[in-house]
Amino acid sequence: MTITLKYYGHATFGIDANGVKLVVDPFLAPNNPLAPVTAEEVEADFILLTHGHGDHVADAIGLAQRTGALTICNFEIEAWLQNAGVEKTHSMHIGGAYCFPFGRLKMTIAHHGSMLPDGSNGGNPAGLLITFTSGERLYFSGDTALTYDMKLIGEAGGVDLAVLNMGDNYTMGPDDAVTAAQFVQAKRVVPSHYNTFPPIAQDPYAFAAKLKERANIDCTVLDPGEETTI
Ligand code: NI
Ligand code: MN
Repeated sequence: MTITLKYYGHATFGIDANGVKLVVDPFLAPNNPLAPVTAEEVEADFILLTHGHGDHVADAIGLAQRTGALTICNFEIEAWLQNAGVEKTHSMHIGGAYCFPFGRLKMTIAHHGSMLPDGSNGGNPAGLLITFTSGERLYFSGDTALTYDMKLIGEAGGVDLAVLNMGDNYTMGPDDAVTAAQFVQAKRVVPSHYNTFPPIAQDPYAFAAKLKERANIDCTVLDPGEETTI
């Protein structure tokens, strides 16, 4: 079976998991200056939210309402979605895992903020660890600093692919992201959360070279609209 990971720019990804469609942190055109598509052009059976910041949830309500997807998020963001009229939600919290039709999803520790765009409480930010029903393991760091807790993911067997924030300023930068890749024992890395705005300008190819040199881990740099398989 094949898992396809498509990049929409910034920290927004689409996943086709053996025919089931997931969207992670929907931030699409015109909100997301890098996204090649609008929320009208994306399909979703499940929407996954790491935290409440606008650059991760700007298109969550619209996408959920148009597609009827089940939105998976923390308890506080679920309340925000329900206030907006989104009915199909599943709330979780850090450390918890649940088996969905696409696989087992665990919310992991992230060090960041999570206030929602309207100022309401977005709970705590999270990373996402997915073990697909076909066995592949995919980790989204979410917006986070480097944390020693990432080692727990590595010690639990590592991941086939880690999507790691490396834009710096708001999250870990390239050097810490290399260490994060080592901590989670990633077989391969896709960088995210860079070049959307001037404070997070980075060269992803320099990051890829650093990852190879320091950690001997492969990196797949995706331009918005491009995809890779796991
Ligand atoms: Ni954020
Ligand atoms: Mn962000």
